[in-house]
Amino acid sequence: MRTQVAIIGAGPAGLLLGQLLAKAGIANIIIEQRSRAHVLSRIRAGVLEPGTVALLDEAGVGQRLHREGLPHGGFELCIDGRLQRIDLQALTGKQVMIYGQTELTRDLMDARAEAGLESVYEAQQVEVLDFDGRQPGVRFVQDGRARELRCDFIAGCDGFHGICRASVPPALLTTHEKVYPFGWLGVLADVPPVSPELIYVRHERGFALCSQRSATRSRYYLQCDSQARVEQWSDQAFWDELRRRLPAAEAARLVSGPALEKSIAPLRSFVAEPMRFGRLFLAGDAAHIVPPTGAKGLNLAASDVAYLWQALADFYRGSELGVDHYSQRCLQRIWKAERFSWWMTTLLHRFPNQPAFDARLQEAELSYLIESAHGRGMIAENYVGLPL
Ligand code: APR
Ligand code: PHB
Repeated sequence: MRTQVAIIGAGPAGLLLGQLLAKAGIANIIIEQRSRAHVLSRIRAGVLEPGTVALLDEAGVGQRLHREGLPHGGFELCIDGRLQRIDLQALTGKQVMIYGQTELTRDLMDARAEAGLESVYEAQQVEVLDFDGRQPGVRFVQDGRARELRCDFIAGCDGFHGICRASVPPALLTTHEKVYPFGWLGVLADVPPVSPELIYVRHERGFALCSQRSATRSRYYLQCDSQARVEQWSDQAFWDELRRRLPAAEAARLVSGPALEKSIAPLRSFVAEPMRFGRLFLAGDAAHIVPPTGAKGLNLAASDVAYLWQALADFYRGSELGVDHYSQRCLQRIWKAERFSWWMTTLLHRFPNQPAFDARLQEAELSYLIESAHGRGMIAENYVGLPL
């Protein structure tokens, strides 16, 4: 098999890159280890920056997003029972779009199938090779048959646990990691959202987030112990604890119901540098992870893809500038988003054995920031996403 760009992974990064490259007339094949149904069964986040929405429109997959997505001009910060709205529209002139990552992945998969672009699902024993040469390759097993794909470039969009970053000689790679001493227990339920906009809650019992997917489907998160197991949390226990962390009015208004999905996600910050190794380029979770408090995970994957698409299109037009600056361009934006995500996490969560003095500082920093227009502006500017 031969193509121009072999894309490893059919998550949002790989699928979006495939669409944009195809639009630029660049041949690509996606190699995914799981089935289409499995990829679609993952419940992930759902806040899209305006820059990400524009890229999805550019890729020709924005129709359903604009029809069914929920534009939000702001969100609430709830600090020890007091709500403070961050008016994104007034502070930045921009809105974010609430649209589940699962729906986005489905739109990208449908668009790829409609365009007749090739994807290999359930590819086993995927290996990437010779990316330090001019003719890299991908070996994998499909339906029991060994196959080999040769290409000009490999795009490693295979997530945090993927094969691409793991195939880079350790001496060439530097990683930075921070693991937080708590997790997020998330519940998806077919109940109306408790508020028209998202609420990020700082509470002495721990962080909470009220999010949504539609007018009838809600997504809620609770800070939980990093050792907690989902079986320890009955639906009732979840709703009771959420009510304890919400202001009285919201707690009274909260509609509870059976969990469609309930899971615990660890929180970590992770960056791998650089993001290019010869003819192998990392994008998305394969190169970086952010704690979800800043809603940056999907949006960072999209900005990597925007830079890689442009770089590869430039390469086939004869310029190597884009591929040579890809890693540096991505990392500049990634570290700013890492900072914002770490900062939101540090300010809004309760750290085990946190000295009272530190908790006071947290409170003071938060009240300073949300009481000053400059502070709210800084939060809003980062939340809607820094320019690409
Ligand atoms: N071979 C082929 N495919 C692989 C391999 C492998 N060895 N390892 C992993 N994959 C696939 C996974 O099955 C998954 O479908 O790569 C895909 C990676 O997708 P994601 O993990 O969704 O990563 P990415 O596309 O970068 O999306 C980042 O996902 O986790 C969220 O918050 C994150 O929103 C961000 C987004
Ligand atoms: C979500 O809707 O799942 C969500 C929203 C905002 C976040 C994280 C997750 O910061």
